[in-house]
Amino acid sequence: MSTENDIFEVMKTMRAMRRLKPDPVPDHVLAQVLEAGTCAPSGQNLQRWSFLVVEDQAGKKFFGERYDYWMRERFADVLRDIDYSSAAGRQAKAAMHLASHMHEVPVLLFCCGTRDWPFAVAPAERVGRAPPSYGSIYPAVQNILLACRALGLGASLTTMHQMFEDDMHAFFGIPATHGVVAVIPIGYPAGKFGPITREPAPHKTHFNRWGQGKPGLAEPMV
Ligand SMILES: Cc1cc2nc3c(=O)[nH]c(=O)nc-3n(C[C@H](O)[C@H](O)[C@H](O)COP(=O)(O)O)c2cc1C
Repeated sequence: MSTENDIFEVMKTMRAMRRLKPDPVPDHVLAQVLEAGTCAPSGQNLQRWSFLVVEDQAGKKFFGERYDYWMRERFADVLRDIDYSSAAGRQAKAAMHLASHMHEVPVLLFCCGTRDWPFAVAPAERVGRAPPSYGSIYPAVQNILLACRALGLGASLTTMHQMFEDDMHAFFGIPATHGVVAVIPIGYPAGKFGPITREPAPHKTHFNRWGQGKPGLAEPMV
């Protein structure tokens, strides 16, 4: 198993990989991915993440059917008019490909976090269920994506499960104390890795005061 060790190279080529081979991911490779997740920082180092690895057919079918349904429902208008030769069109095509093949992906990794009100929300304002502590889970999610890329695995971050999360809790036995923050489909890539497409960092950066710039470092496009 080859690994790419230059972290910048890994980040710059970590495109969402939505076309995956059905080949299984060995447990010892998955263990490395999960270990990377648990290297992440979290508020007060409470490490309130839990991971559910779903590899069985029944679980993947249950998740895939619902994910595919909601992707089609949510993006029906966009898909009707999209130009599939544009960059956005190619991305939409890949996203819909993943949706319709979700049940064949070797590993679905549910990244869960305990529900906990942000401390800025006053106790009197805490109504209903607390959200999962997203800020403490997303660094682990990012570490997992980086580890997958470094290990030659394809992966992508998905959140469409929010449309049917209660069903997932019932089917997979996830306790109400936890929320599912992200679902990461993982497998060996069928597509090619390549450079990501992003706005240059200076376009997103301000200097000293919002709207001010510094040549080469901060050239905000406000
Ligand atoms: C919070 C968040 C939610 C996302 N949800 C989905 C999703 O539900 N389905 C999907 O196919 N991609 C999802 N993505 C992936 C993004 O669409 C993708 O990373 C982005 O368009 C950039 O493309 P690239 O990673 O290939 O460069 C999500 C990404 C983030 C950060």
